[in-house]
Amino acid sequence: MYSFDDLRDKIQEAFSILSFQKQPQELYEPISYTLSLGGKRMRPVLLLMGCDLFGGDIAKALAPAMGIEVFHNFTLLHDDIMDNAPLRRSQPTVHHKWNTSIAILSGDTMLIEAFRLMMQVENNQLRQVLDIFNSTAILVCEGQQLDMNYETQKDVSILDYLEMISLKTAVLLAACLQIGAVIAGADVEDARHLYNFGKYLGIAFQLQDDILDVYGDKDKFGKQVGGDIISNKKTYLLLKALELEALSDSISLNELLINNHISSQDKVEAITAIYDRLKVKEFAIQEKQNFYEIAMKELEAIDLPQERKSALTSFAKYLMVREI
Ligand code: IPE
Ligand code: IPE
Ligand code: MG
Ligand code: MG
Ligand code: MG
Repeated sequence: MYSFDDLRDKIQEAFSILSFQKQPQELYEPISYTLSLGGKRMRPVLLLMGCDLFGGDIAKALAPAMGIEVFHNFTLLHDDIMDNAPLRRSQPTVHHKWNTSIAILSGDTMLIEAFRLMMQVENNQLRQVLDIFNSTAILVCEGQQLDMNYETQKDVSILDYLEMISLKTAVLLAACLQIGAVIAGADVEDARHLYNFGKYLGIAFQLQDDILDVYGDKDKFGKQVGGDIISNKKTYLLLKALELEALSDSISLNELLINNHISSQDKVEAITAIYDRLKVKEFAIQEKQNFYEIAMKELEAIDLPQERKSALTSFAKYLMVREI
């Protein structure tokens, strides 16, 4: 059994030899830049963990693991354009450092590169792996569209939000684990529990992301704090605050959402103050904890001894308290 650190080292080593030193430089340099900034590398590690859990050969899962990470990084390039984000991993985003056209095309190239890596599995597993990858990639796009729709949609419920984050974020984590399980030749029922574990953990992960977007430490988080508030993202925090405000007949939050004259900084401060007053962070932490517990039940349902699951268990714990 490998630990998270062992597996991340393997991923880092594999990335250190994946070179994008090609021409035209304007296309490839942003790819090297993005991949060199690292990030947590949790998706490829999860893929390897899914394989290792069922006694698979992780060397056979390394290329698809890198494929998933390249895919994730592609989504970030496009997501940062859509979210108008200036910072990623404490550095300027690609569309800020270069321009939007470059971020689109470098992103497209990464998506195709992701397929190339994903295809490097045994022939008898190729169709199944690509099927999972294809359907997941489409779901991520659906989630991203809903995320944008909700910026201006009024009647978004917390249930709508949970469905949206399940699509944009959670299914990819689930798919990582499922692909790992397929490569290891896991039992179908066990693979299904592992997929569900990843999905519920992914929902908890995105709740933490939304919390950090408001309450994260600017120097550690690496992204613009308050970005979700500035772009009227219907996060759990905002939806809960709207719900609580409606109960108390106060309308200040809705007014702030449609106020085009307020500066970004004032808007972030004013809305954060409302969140503080209504204690929505505590509600979000509780919701995150609920999903974490559902996830852990799915992990427990897998027919393997507890000690085989220890890497996944400790990784899930870490995700709940992450600051980056
Ligand atoms: C960011 O993902 C996008 C979300 C789904 C919230 P990560 O938090 O995994 O980003 P990196 O790869 O570690 O930078
Ligand atoms: C992004 O969600 C999900 C995808 C990139 C598919 P966010 O927009 O919350 O991610 P960050 O906060 O920019 O990393
Ligand atoms: Mg974003
Ligand atoms: Mg986004
Ligand atoms: Mg976010």
